[in-house]
Amino acid sequence: MASQTSRLDMRFILAQAMAKEAGKVALDYFNRRETLVIETKRDLQDVVSVADREVENLIRARVAEANPHDGFLGEEYGLMEGTSGYTWVVDPIDGTSPFVNGMPNWCVSIAVLHGGRPVIGVIYAPCFNELYAAASGKGATLDGKALSLDPARTIHNSVTGIGANNYVTPAFVGKMVEDLLEAGGNFIRNGSGALMLAYVAAGRLVGYYEPYMHAWDCMAGFCLIEESGGYYHPFDVSGDNLTKGAPVLATGPGAKDDLIKIAGL
Ligand code: IPD
Ligand code: CA
Ligand code: CA
Ligand code: CA
Repeated sequence: MASQTSRLDMRFILAQAMAKEAGKVALDYFNRRETLVIETKRDLQDVVSVADREVENLIRARVAEANPHDGFLGEEYGLMEGTSGYTWVVDPIDGTSPFVNGMPNWCVSIAVLHGGRPVIGVIYAPCFNELYAAASGKGATLDGKALSLDPARTIHNSVTGIGANNYVTPAFVGKMVEDLLEAGGNFIRNGSGALMLAYVAAGRLVGYYEPYMHAWDCMAGFCLIEESGGYYHPFDVSGDNLTKGAPVLATGPGAKDDLIKIAGL
């Protein structure tokens, strides 16, 4: 019987291989996106295409082949419960809006949960050919180079990512932006919350806040941020909460107190 460590290692290797394979499939669609039929979900800004579905199906098939008893939650096809104690949480394409509009800010995001927390986080951004990878107790890397957050970076000398979607009121997001600017910070939004979380782990952004996200948007980023020495606000994935949304706040050590206050968490 495999030990806990080798069970994690096997899945970590699989997650990285799948992120690259799935990223290649998605990139191929991206390069001929003029032919894609764009469908809408909750409103005209909430888009999806065959690329999202095909990439999720590919990752589901690979996981089922290698670990048939693992659970799986994906944005496009929902939750399939497992019995092994491991649950994959996948956003096949995070940043579908930049994807269909021809911008490079999108990624494949793959996490594995165990014991109620993300123990693997892998994010691959095909247009930049960047692979972010972390596993519990093993640190976080960007293309194999170790990531470690600098406590000297604060909201004042760095930029903070902010995201928004149609689950929250514009006024709520507006107030957060206003408070951040008033406190001497500034914000960036690139259209992919998962990629911006990877940027927090890489020290490019000092924090990321979005009032409402789903587990598939943030679990991989959380693992990366924890392993690079950062903080994330508790996000309950127990029972039915796994498929519900919650606020997302993740920061480097030097911005934690300020951003918790500004986000009102
Ligand atoms: C969205 C992106 C966006 C964020 C939204 C997410 P999707 O995911 O991460 O940046 O603001 O909340 O839903 O739909 O592109 O996978
Ligand atoms: Ca979506
Ligand atoms: Ca997403
Ligand atoms: Ca998505």
